[in-house]
Amino acid sequence: MITARSKEEILSASRVEEVIGEYVNLKKRGTNYIGLCPFHTEKTPSFNVSPTKGIFKCFGCGKAGDVITFLIEHEKFTYPEALRWLAQKYHITIEETGDTAKDQDDKMLMESLYIINQFAQEYFHSNLYKTEEGETIGLAYFKERGLTEEMIQKFKLGYALQQENAFTITATKSGYQLELLKKAGLVVNRGYSDVDFFHQRVIFPLLNLSGKVVAFAGRIMVKDERSPKYINSPETEIYQKSKLVYGIHQARTSIRQHDECFLTEGYTDVISMHQAGIENVVASSGTSLTDDQIKLIKRFTDNITILYDGDEAGIKAALRGLEMMASQDVNIRVVLLPDGDDPDSFLHKKGSAALREFIRDNKKHFLQFKTEVLMKDAGTDPLKRADVIKEVVGTLALVPDVVRRSILLKEVSRMLDVREQVLITEVNKQRRAKFNKETGAEKFEADALHRELETLPDHREQLYQDRSDELQERDVVRLLLEFGRKEMESAVPVAAYVLNEIRDVSINHMHLRLMIHEIESQMEAGNIPDHHYFLQHHDDELKRLAMEIISSPYVLSENWNKMHDIYIKMPSDNFISDVKSSIARFKMKKIMNMISENLKELNSAKGNAEEEIYFMNVHQRLSQWKQELGKDIGTVIVN
Ligand code: CTP
Ligand code: MN
Repeated sequence: MITARSKEEILSASRVEEVIGEYVNLKKRGTNYIGLCPFHTEKTPSFNVSPTKGIFKCFGCGKAGDVITFLIEHEKFTYPEALRWLAQKYHITIEETGDTAKDQDDKMLMESLYIINQFAQEYFHSNLYKTEEGETIGLAYFKERGLTEEMIQKFKLGYALQQENAFTITATKSGYQLELLKKAGLVVNRGYSDVDFFHQRVIFPLLNLSGKVVAFAGRIMVKDERSPKYINSPETEIYQKSKLVYGIHQARTSIRQHDECFLTEGYTDVISMHQAGIENVVASSGTSLTDDQIKLIKRFTDNITILYDGDEAGIKAALRGLEMMASQDVNIRVVLLPDGDDPDSFLHKKGSAALREFIRDNKKHFLQFKTEVLMKDAGTDPLKRADVIKEVVGTLALVPDVVRRSILLKEVSRMLDVREQVLITEVNKQRRAKFNKETGAEKFEADALHRELETLPDHREQLYQDRSDELQERDVVRLLLEFGRKEMESAVPVAAYVLNEIRDVSINHMHLRLMIHEIESQMEAGNIPDHHYFLQHHDDELKRLAMEIISSPYVLSENWNKMHDIYIKMPSDNFISDVKSSIARFKMKKIMNMISENLKELNSAKGNAEEEIYFMNVHQRLSQWKQELGKDIGTVIVN
């Protein structure tokens, strides 16, 4: 069983327009998308997709639903299959439970922790209103900082009393087991007795994406050198510091609407910005962002704007974090706030209009930011300037998306006063070196290919409409059906090997794609299906196809033979080389289709310099892969 948490994670990551966009050519109309309904035949589009509502509806035939309904209706998936498909698309690792006693225990523990945290949150919150100490210290503090009642409610703020076991007593009296309170990190043993984790601090509950309280942070009230300004609950089964950003629950809708996420450092920055009407904001809680935190934000937007204190430390911190983020394919922009102000203090001094204006006027792309900082250091020294160029190119080379990269290239070329072509060559050199180092020069990188493809949203359907690769797709399915259970040299089952090789390449033929999906999910259940499996299949089309694939004699495109002027072995007893050469041919075909489609695009982009450069870039990349793959095929054939 897929866990509830996984389900939630998958569903909140899924964007209806992206999923349906894989099957239907969607055009943007206002906030919605329209296209030709895939469920009935029509000439004028009446099929509507609403990203904000997460649903589709056809005004022609009446079909409507969410992503899951769409996949079930259109791809004939079962509910769990649809979930798995989405998990794969959004790179989410599925958490499963068998019904073992341990799984049950874990689930129970997690649920208990949520309940306890909920109780504690309400308790801390009520201290603000129901205890004198809470009111005169906690509530007064929030008021003094200018927070409105609305924000105190929205962020569920609270106060922990000075008495060292105030919470422990209340919670145990209410029936919560001491053991669980300790597991939640709310009660600690101080040797002499069990006491509260938080005392005399204002409390900021930390909410996960879906709004459940998973932990707390407490801010000190009296300045004390021996005690940190903020302390956080320890990590538990429901709280991993590195996977959460503060405020994501309250910000998610606004982030999606604005397609931008502001990133601040502090809890109070987030709250003050909400109060000022800027709701697409989260906090990293004082540390630099982790991969998981970026992934969390990336579900809602690709645009992260970092608001940093403008001091030396802030700038250094910014540069370090940015390097890492560059490789995650997010658009990072930076705003350095003046005079060491954080957003919270800026807002108090100058107000919300001033902050918006400042952000608007000072927002810089991170590369621009980095280039400026480094160039200022280098001054006019030509050697130092050359170093800066190298450094900047290094960061550029990290950007996986070719479109983003070429836009940045242009900008940097202007800033550094270096010809664009020089930068392109240098970036490509670095990327190739990195690529070879990571994968071994002989290995084709399907991942990267897929990513490049994803940068071509407008051309993608066109590429995929080309059905001339059906033969190669069939051949891959043949490998799965015929040899799936045999083992490669590395003792990996052929099925696993093949699936991994084609992992990121799209299969155009719908039924072939279905077969592959089904093989995948069977394999997850520990079974490698062969042709018998499909010959018993309830779907007649799959049955028929399986029959055809295993029974029809193996044919190779003659053109292919001629074009490459190489001799290709017919399938033989040597299934390993059969597997390898079939996969290589499959990839080669996919690449050649892309190259020819891209050339068409290049042709029609004549005159538009920007587009031309872009398609040239793509061409260069594809040709490079083709060449690398050619080498592979060469070696496979010789074997
Ligand atoms: N932080 C922390 N532990 C500390 C200090 C800071 O976890 N000992 C985190 C908190 O998330 C804090 C953020 O780093 O919100 C930024 O720290 P800082 O700028 O010192 O605090 P502010 O958020 O500005 O808090 P305040 O305005 O209340 O002083
Ligand atoms: Mn502050």
